[in-house]
Amino acid sequence: MSNRPFVIDFLHAGGIHLSQYDHHIVRKLSSLRGQFLDQEIYEAMLRAQDPILYEVYEVKGAEVAGELIHGITIIHPGKVGTEYFMTKGHYHLLLDTAEVYYCLQGQGSMVMETPEGDWAVEPLRPQSTLYVPPRWAHRTVNTSPSEDLVIFFVYPGNAGHDYGTIEKQGYRKLVVERDGKPEIIDNLRWLPPEKR
Ligand code: F6R
Ligand code: ZN
Repeated sequence: MSNRPFVIDFLHAGGIHLSQYDHHIVRKLSSLRGQFLDQEIYEAMLRAQDPILYEVYEVKGAEVAGELIHGITIIHPGKVGTEYFMTKGHYHLLLDTAEVYYCLQGQGSMVMETPEGDWAVEPLRPQSTLYVPPRWAHRTVNTSPSEDLVIFFVYPGNAGHDYGTIEKQGYRKLVVERDGKPEIIDNLRWLPPEKR
């Protein structure tokens, strides 16, 4: 991306317009193995097909302190059993780096936790801004039955990503559908830091 100032119209003519990005990540169901509560349903779904759960369009400068990486994540609607489609989620490798999300479209939740086991789940709705402080792992969940969740994000160029810590046991809290509505439940696989 240019080191001259530039403007990108992510929202264009009432829709999402994605012509200017330099990094496109496509994550399918198969890349979230072990993360969904109902592993039997997960495996059965995967045998039938491997749908795209979400896509990330990044505008990426150099991955160095002082730069900001930004872009759009689109999480499609759907569920594995009762659990909504979601991102893998991660800590930043440089733990002391924050991130800002701005919701453009849809309905969802951000599931967050710290290495000490503190947790938070915050709503994402159009025109809401969510601040993820340094040290908080974050995962985005699409809780709409039918609509894409579209979010803008911006984070420090040198943040990096640690997926491995979350992959081991998932997040402390899960977001599932109960009686047609999102509900936060405990992840029974999750252990507090002193018991790992
Ligand atoms: C970057 C960030 C987002 C996510 C994106 C996909 O630090 O938090 O851009 O990378 O929403 O989620 P992951 O990276 O967890 O697959
Ligand atoms: Zn992040």
